[in-house]
Amino acid sequence: MARILMCPPDYYGIEYEINPWMSRSRGAVSARARQQWQELYDTLQHIGATVELVPPQPGLPDLVFTANAGLVFRQQVILSHFRYPQRQREEPVFEAWFRTHGFEVLRLPQDLFFEGAGDALFCGRTLFAGYRIRSDCLAHQEVARRIGREVLPLELVNPHFYHLDTCFCPLAPGQAIYYPPAFDSYAQRVLRERIPELMVCPDHDAYRFGCNAVVVGKFVVLNAGCDALAELLRRAGYQPILIPLDEFLKAGGSAKCLTLRLDGEDAAIW
Ligand code: ARG
Repeated sequence: MARILMCPPDYYGIEYEINPWMSRSRGAVSARARQQWQELYDTLQHIGATVELVPPQPGLPDLVFTANAGLVFRQQVILSHFRYPQRQREEPVFEAWFRTHGFEVLRLPQDLFFEGAGDALFCGRTLFAGYRIRSDCLAHQEVARRIGREVLPLELVNPHFYHLDTCFCPLAPGQAIYYPPAFDSYAQRVLRERIPELMVCPDHDAYRFGCNAVVVGKFVVLNAGCDALAELLRRAGYQPILIPLDEFLKAGGSAKCLTLRLDGEDAAIW
């Protein structure tokens, strides 16, 4: 059974600007954000996931994006060390949650930035890892050493797609969705060579964060308005579920960012 970590949006808001989607003059509407988050939460339970919660904290508006808590690998978690000080304050909150829930917490050297599952996703036995905008390439090498798995660093070149999970979504071992313009040409080649079934996300849907999808078995939960991508998924045998998450797009997030898979993604071979 899928086990997912989320954090209620009690203190969610646009209080600073650390990516091109965020503008303090375009704040989140709390009631709508709550409603959208609730629908995601209900949907995930409905398709068979167990959802656990990190208690929200005042002053940490981005804590809702639990994908960035760390990288979970079996009973271990490599804790994130955020690039921006505004988000570094989330680190002790996530650390405490993992410790009280039976995870062994590993930390990277403090001079390396690493933003967890936002930038590191398994497809099969291999960990695909985005770097340059948030996480450091060297951090990924350290992660590879700690977990003893092959890690393929992918350079992210478009500031709108600043985390790997905004432009890449593993569906199953050997199968994924990606948005090519988010990657440098070398990374595009690596993805094409290493993942036999690669689906290209159309531009329009990529900018609605269609790649930022939660996969549970054959269900794929993603932001409303990604109709072309939904059709591609249906043709590949998946059942897309579109729910409005535009209040979170204002912070540069969508379905996947709001979740952290604690038991290994469907696409991961642990
Ligand atoms: N405002 C947050 C940030 O810029 C959004 C994080 C989205 N998370 C993700 N995994 N893509 O850090």
